[in-house]
Amino acid sequence: MKWGEPMNNNSFIQVKNITKRFKNNGKSELVLENIDIDIKKSDTIAILGQSGCGKSTLLNIIGGFEPANEGKVILNGEEVTKPSRKSVMLFQNYGLLPWRSVLKNVELGLENSNLSPRERRKQSLEYIKLVGLEDKINRFPRQLSGGMQQRVAIARALAIEPDLLLMDEPFGALDTFNRYYLQDELLNIQQKANTTIIIVTHDVDEAIYLADRIIVMGKDPGHIQREIPIKNYKPRDRSGDDFQYYRKLILNEFQINGATPPMEFNI
Ligand SMILES: Nc1ncnc2c1ncn2[C@@H]1O[C@H](COP(=O)(O)OP(=O)(O)OP(=O)(O)O)[C@@H](O)[C@H]1O
Ligand SMILES: [Mg+2]
Repeated sequence: MKWGEPMNNNSFIQVKNITKRFKNNGKSELVLENIDIDIKKSDTIAILGQSGCGKSTLLNIIGGFEPANEGKVILNGEEVTKPSRKSVMLFQNYGLLPWRSVLKNVELGLENSNLSPRERRKQSLEYIKLVGLEDKINRFPRQLSGGMQQRVAIARALAIEPDLLLMDEPFGALDTFNRYYLQDELLNIQQKANTTIIIVTHDVDEAIYLADRIIVMGKDPGHIQREIPIKNYKPRDRSGDDFQYYRKLILNEFQINGATPPMEFNI
């Protein structure tokens, strides 16, 4: 890490006392209140919370896409005021350009890099292959299923090989097998490249499988309800007792006790 000020502690990201309001129909709505998070380099943090509690807003603020009303985000010693090339955001709605092919969409993320067009293409193809779309490189987004579009967006984010990967429900549109496969690939990439990851998800199991720490958010206004560290080695056994223990712990946080769960939880 050469860029930014040296830090006193070993945090890579510090979210300090963030408060966010939106104006809706002339009324100010408090969306996030006093959010404090400290994240070490190479950690994977999962954010779980009900729809509307401010998860995407928080991710947007951390990525520099949205300003906060109060507080600040420090990324590797520098205050975040705009999007940085060191961090990449995988948006909830994929953010693909409809007039570009699969290959050109993935190459897009590398256009400002130092890579030659040839290297850009090679690296893009590598990640397209990783998400299993090598036979679709010339298709346009409208010619793909929702899950395939999501995989293109994942390939584009991973191809940039960023220090910080911000993911907003990246696997939501995928079937179970693709989701499990890409979760494992994400862990592989994370370990190889020491990527720091913040992933927003509705899927409790996904959070337990991937995260070193789960942040449970409450709503009205969005706040941190609980932080749950998970120290178990990865890859984790989805059917093991430890997994079941964390599942229960988290579901208790949402007070789901055998009643019909809300739609947004994939349980
Ligand atoms: N650009 C905006 N302008 C006005 N209000 C907004 C804007 N973006 C989000 N909001 C409001 O802020 C609140 C939090 O929205 P946000 O998208 O962060 O929730 P979320 O936790 O990501 O929800 P979901 O799980 O459904 O994606 C909501 O009440 C939403 O209406
Ligand atoms: Mg969201």
